Amino acid sequence: MSYTICLIEGDGIGHEVIPAGRTLLEAVGLDLTFVQAEAGWATFQREGTALPQATIAAVRAADATLFGAVSSPLSRVDGYRSPIVGLRRELDLYANLRPVRSQPLAATRAGIDMLIVRENSEGLYAGRERATDDEAITERVITRRGSERIVRLACELALQRRKALTIVHKANVLRATCGLFREVAFAVTAEYPGLLVDELLVDTAAMRLITDPERFDVLVTTNLFGDILSDEAAALVGGLGLAPAGNIGVGAAIFEPVHGSAPDIAGQGIANPLATFGAVAMLLQHLGEVAWAGRVERAIEQVIAAGPLTPDLGGQATTAQVTERVIACL
Ligand code: NAI
Ligand code: MG
Repeated sequence: MSYTICLIEGDGIGHEVIPAGRTLLEAVGLDLTFVQAEAGWATFQREGTALPQATIAAVRAADATLFGAVSSPLSRVDGYRSPIVGLRRELDLYANLRPVRSQPLAATRAGIDMLIVRENSEGLYAGRERATDDEAITERVITRRGSERIVRLACELALQRRKALTIVHKANVLRATCGLFREVAFAVTAEYPGLLVDELLVDTAAMRLITDPERFDVLVTTNLFGDILSDEAAALVGGLGLAPAGNIGVGAAIFEPVHGSAPDIAGQGIANPLATFGAVAMLLQHLGEVAWAGRVERAIEQVIAAGPLTPDLGGQATTAQVTERVIACL
């Protein structure tokens, strides 16, 4: 099989970790064609938009995209809109996937291997807000279609894993919105008799993630709950510096490290590429190249265990040295 991979470096250390990701992809024994596209703050300053139409087209045309990070201005800048939000909307990237796996690091807990599947297009982040002087209202939008497609994706992903799915909601209080999500979730999971399905209230889920994270395989939940739970879970296994994410739509998929553009270390050649490599593993899995995805994951684990590591993980290695070693472990 041959695949087209779109690369978006973005800003800051995106210019370091995405080339490292490309080097890793080139070392994998697949027929890949790379297409480079632009987005972010520097693009905005050059072209007047942070997300050129050509970039949207390139992501849509590619089999998958690897995205670095973009810098956002701290204060409002006329005409600037986050390219991530733009891509999510333009390409209807309705699912955010966050794998959370134990790593051989002293500070992390063993035995954790879960995938959080977060609805990424509606819920409390639907952007329906209004306010007067004395009252502010955010509407929480849950649709049958939105719930159905996220739960279906979660079921398909659970089938590829340990076949256990936990539906996370707060239907006892949010009777209308979480009630609909829960009803649809159980209707969809009923079509998957091979899955072990259970449910948790979101507050209980937040506690269980700390007390017994080993019990989870796949979790599926709405936008805000998923946002919070996925960062909580990432903290159990080495923090955001190692965390990858996937954004899945109907005709496009974007994989990225969860971290930002790290302007404080950009240009020094010491950015940790491992979160991006985790994103590369997710990308390969998405393409159906499961064996290569597994090899990349095991190579990352070997390097975390034995080094060399970049300064953020207590080592002294450069991005290039870590990349070289991961490739050697493939
Ligand atoms: P950040 O994740 O860029 O950096 C936080 C801290 O972690 C910094 O000390 C940084 O040096 C360190 N760090 C992050 N990634 C690292 C890596 N791969 N290797 C070694 N150290 C790493 O978050 P921050 O500082 O809040 O944001 C910086 C910029 O990034 C902002 O403009 C923000 O808007 C943007 N950002 C972009 C994201 C994206 O494009 N997906 C996500 C988060 C932030
Ligand atoms: Mg977040």
